[in-house]
Amino acid sequence: MSIKKILIFLLILFLRFPCFAETKYTHSAIDNILNRKSIRSFSNKKVEQEKINLILKSAMAAPSAMNKQPWEIIVVTDSKKLEQIAKDIPNASYSKTSQLTIIVCGNTDISEKFWLQDCCAMTENILLAVEGLGLGAVWCAVYPFEDKVEKVKKLFNLPENIIPLNVIPIGYSAIKEKPKQKYDSKKIHTNNW
Ligand SMILES: Cc1cc2nc3c(=O)[nH]c(=O)nc-3n(C[C@H](O)[C@H](O)[C@H](O)COP(=O)(O)O)c2cc1C
Repeated sequence: MSIKKILIFLLILFLRFPCFAETKYTHSAIDNILNRKSIRSFSNKKVEQEKINLILKSAMAAPSAMNKQPWEIIVVTDSKKLEQIAKDIPNASYSKTSQLTIIVCGNTDISEKFWLQDCCAMTENILLAVEGLGLGAVWCAVYPFEDKVEKVKKLFNLPENIIPLNVIPIGYSAIKEKPKQKYDSKKIHTNNW
């Protein structure tokens, strides 16, 4: 068989059986998960709108109980608002130097029971999308701290049924950070405790 025929055969195989095409994709998804780390120091490079759109699309691809999607997202790019977040929520002070901050909120009118779980799933999607796009981010706690919840509610005029879960400063990392090694076989209980 000539090289040309072999190449055509391989191309047909690749297109005919998606599993061959998806192998690389699957690995890159796993690499992305294993490489994710919290980033708290950002350069002043702006996050491109195209990347913001992909982060938001990834966020809303998250699973949710009964597919209720009880989430709302606040996208903050205004430097004055970013500074104010840092002032009001000291554990989210990284917002000040981030070029973008996303606030994930639960909508209790849509789901009172599962908004928290669903919004956590959305948050992890955001963090993974950020990693995949060559950006950095950190989940900064708001809920369940009543004072922080009230401060975010006031700053963004949130209605009563909207609860801010977290503040996620996002940007190009100013530092090289390695993912922490967390795998611990002692945490795994097979078929029984
Ligand atoms: C629910 C939750 C709340 C967190 N709150 C904060 C926070 O307020 N400030 C902060 O710097 N990091 C916060 N983090 C990030 C953790 O500190 C970080 O994920 C953890 O140290 C593991 O590091 P890694 O993300 O690099 O793997 C929070 C993470 C989670 C899941």
